[in-house]
Amino acid sequence: MERPRSNRRDTPVTLVAPPPIPRAAGSLPFLGHAIQLMRDNLGFIAALRTSYGPVVEITLQPGTRTLVVQDPGLIRTMLTDLGPSLDKGRFFEKMGQLLGDSVVTAAGQTHVRKRRQLQPAFARERIDRYVDTMRGETEVAVDDWAVGRALDVREAMVGLSLNMLAKTVFSGSLDETAFRRLRADLSVVMNGVGARVMLPDWVERLPLPANRRFTRARDAVRATIDRAVTGLRASGHDTGDMLSLLLRTTDEETGRPLTGHQISSEILTLAVAGTETTASVLSWTLYELARNPDVEAKVLAELDDVLGGRPVAFDDLGRLPYLRRVVDETLRLHHTGWLVTRRTVTETRLGPWTVPAGTELAYCQHALHRDPALFPDPLRFDPDRRPAGDRPGPSHAFLPFGAGKHKCIGDRFALTELLTAVATIVRRVRLELAPGQTVRPVAAATVRPRTLSMTVRDRRNPAAHAAG
Ligand code: HEM
Repeated sequence: MERPRSNRRDTPVTLVAPPPIPRAAGSLPFLGHAIQLMRDNLGFIAALRTSYGPVVEITLQPGTRTLVVQDPGLIRTMLTDLGPSLDKGRFFEKMGQLLGDSVVTAAGQTHVRKRRQLQPAFARERIDRYVDTMRGETEVAVDDWAVGRALDVREAMVGLSLNMLAKTVFSGSLDETAFRRLRADLSVVMNGVGARVMLPDWVERLPLPANRRFTRARDAVRATIDRAVTGLRASGHDTGDMLSLLLRTTDEETGRPLTGHQISSEILTLAVAGTETTASVLSWTLYELARNPDVEAKVLAELDDVLGGRPVAFDDLGRLPYLRRVVDETLRLHHTGWLVTRRTVTETRLGPWTVPAGTELAYCQHALHRDPALFPDPLRFDPDRRPAGDRPGPSHAFLPFGAGKHKCIGDRFALTELLTAVATIVRRVRLELAPGQTVRPVAAATVRPRTLSMTVRDRRNPAAHAAG
């Protein structure tokens, strides 16, 4: 691609061709970079950043070009300027095949419509109402942890995030038995999707117990939501939860209410988009607080100052700036996203390059947030790093919730969950890491701790030991 350097009439025009986009070394026929990705996907993607320039080509699917965009300016261009003209790419398409079409999987005008339909469920006044549920679920979880015993923090945070989401969506619409069944089914679906979006399609068709379990759980979620939708429509009752709100939403294309199938597709993908992500960030926050007692002490002092003895409420969240910094710094250092994809539909200009239709574009938030050129001493957890716009780094390089038309619709919901849950947990218990314990990240559906075991200590009675 050639680019005029100057458009002044009297100066000669110099034509400069951009350098060709390099291909990452080590691609094999038929396999592409599958071996490196299976061995250490995070390490592989991080190494691209140190070895290559603003864009590098890798092979995820033989026969398809995937360009990993590494320059923060070009990532912004891809998400914002080019956002409306791009498809969402392979990972999201796969999710659509598994769970049905939803705001997460849609592109173009369909996406705009779906997003508008869902937006009221994430409005500020709604989230205000959800805080009590989020705090209540956190209290119930902490009550269950045995003081003096090891807690599988990751598993506990997945359970808590799923409960917080499921209660806000369904609290008033399902009886206790149906709710428990639905929560268990959602958990199976959530665990199954992560692996399935990465694997070739034929793996899902194998008659394996895991595949049968997944299909059964997904169909059961659909059936439960269908029944709830029929019941609520018949009663005309507004239960005040998210399901009730979706029921009153109109499909802009048909002018009719959303069908049970449409509602369950949205809810299934919300459970996937909003559970593992929040659970991973919560786990990493608790890990960093345990590793940094001075940071934890400041968080506790702020909570004492603002709350005194009372539990955290929605209006308090804006008055906890230090806790917010801790959460932001966790979102920087331990971002949960390892590959977000898009796909060109037509020939597309990306910076100086022209990219053919059908090219997959991808970027990695985890690697971006650890680039030493953007975040000095990137592996240091430092809630006080706020050089630009009160954010932990250059504003174009800190993308915790993405950017552009697909920016996380649940960002406010997620921050509310994170602040509420951490504020509630740290005042009740101190979670202690075993001496010398190293916790490694693993990139599955999200970048999460491979395992994270911590001992529970009672904050109010530090001498308390495990019963029995
Ligand atoms: C800390 C937790 C979370 C993080 C880090 C996170 C991050 C993100 C990011 C980076 C995107 C953009 C993906 C892209 O560019 O394609 C996204 C999209 C999305 N997220 Fe979140 N998310 C979180 C929690 C949630 C929650 C709690 C919900 C819902 C309850 C949610 C629902 C969604 C949806 C529906 C989309 C798709 C939006 C669209 O395409 O219009 N997320 N999220």
